[in-house]
Amino acid sequence: MRNSIFLVLFALSCIASVAFRFEKEPKVISIEIPKKWPRPVYDFSKNPLTEIGFELGRKLFYDPILSRDSSISCASCHLQYTGFTHVDHAVSHGIDGRKGTRNTLALINLAWQKTFHWDGGVTNLETQAINPLQHPAEMDNSLRAVINRLNASSNYPGLFEKAFGNKEITTSKLMKALTQYTVSLISANSKYDKVSRKEKGIFFTEQEKRGLKLFNAHCNSCHTAPLFTNTLFASNGLKIDSLLKDTGRFAITGFPGDSLNFKIPSLRNIEFTFPYMHDGRFKKLKDVIHFYSEGIDLQSPYLSPHLKNRKHFTEIEKKDLLAFLYTLTDKAFLYNPRFSFPK
Ligand code: HEC
Ligand code: HEC
Repeated sequence: MRNSIFLVLFALSCIASVAFRFEKEPKVISIEIPKKWPRPVYDFSKNPLTEIGFELGRKLFYDPILSRDSSISCASCHLQYTGFTHVDHAVSHGIDGRKGTRNTLALINLAWQKTFHWDGGVTNLETQAINPLQHPAEMDNSLRAVINRLNASSNYPGLFEKAFGNKEITTSKLMKALTQYTVSLISANSKYDKVSRKEKGIFFTEQEKRGLKLFNAHCNSCHTAPLFTNTLFASNGLKIDSLLKDTGRFAITGFPGDSLNFKIPSLRNIEFTFPYMHDGRFKKLKDVIHFYSEGIDLQSPYLSPHLKNRKHFTEIEKKDLLAFLYTLTDKAFLYNPRFSFPK
């Protein structure tokens, strides 16, 4: 009898301690990996995703408190309904209306990306956010000022405690929280995806089918499905821009062959992420298709071999390609309430 009471008490104390730990340590969740997709590259074991961490990252992403004069948030340049990019300017606009030197990149399916920025100068998503925070033409703040401000705020210490176990806010925790949000921005629900999954009643039109064929023949080697990027760098034959003279990947590696090589961007939600290219030189998607048809600099020593035999598209083919590219629009992503401004 004594033994069994002891056992019951022991069992109860185990349950209590588990429940207590449960309250202390938030439950780890995982992102939903779309069927038939490769494994994500991002190492979740170093920054376990939790609902509370995600919500904290979301709040920070939308909070201008991170910028020097509390005027600019990450979302000022990365707007959800345009695929988390900035649409109205060729290059980014930050604090005091200062102009950056590159077109804002869309934030889509980052968990599958190995390198970040147009030149791949950032190799870890978790340290990426240090750049916009400190960049004089973006948020123009110092890490120390951001951390002090967050520690002095009325709500953030409590939120960091819930997410990471204690109140003290550090750069590393700030980066981890922001990353829990950005790494969760997954777009896999476009018409293209639905057709690929053979969802009932959803089919490509004849025009979209012709566009897909052209896409597979001329674009897919770099903009590879299902991510619509092979996550590498290439020169697609754009002439160097006359103003900024951006050499892209060369500035990072110093390898001459990398001149004018840029990150191959995903084409998901491309209908809404205008303007296009690292310097935002094309306003319309039809300008981009026209460029691949007539504008490639075939004399460039850096041009990717994939584009050396560039194809002239007829007017009909251009429309077909465009129709296919529109099937990559994912309204469920662009308007997903989970990613929007937190209430
Ligand atoms: C002033 C506009 C601006 C602000 C504010 C801004 N960004 Fe960006 N973001 C950019 C630009 C421009 C790039 C491309 C930079 C480059 O290639 O050099 C970029 C690139 C990125 C990338 C890399 C995407 C990829 O596919 O390589 C991530 C991630 C990112 N930003 C997250 C953030 C976060 C998080 C914040 C807030 C802490 C933030 N950004 C604030 C303009 C901005
Ligand atoms: C050799 C690899 C390669 C091939 C093939 C290729 N692209 Fe690209 N594409 C790139 C690179 C690299 C960029 C970014 C270039 C830059 O900004 O300097 C790009 C940019 C784009 C953009 C702009 C994306 C943005 O977010 O700004 C679109 C749209 C695009 N390509 C569509 C196509 C289409 C359509 C085809 C087929 C006709 C195609 N690409 C073939 C490498 C390629």
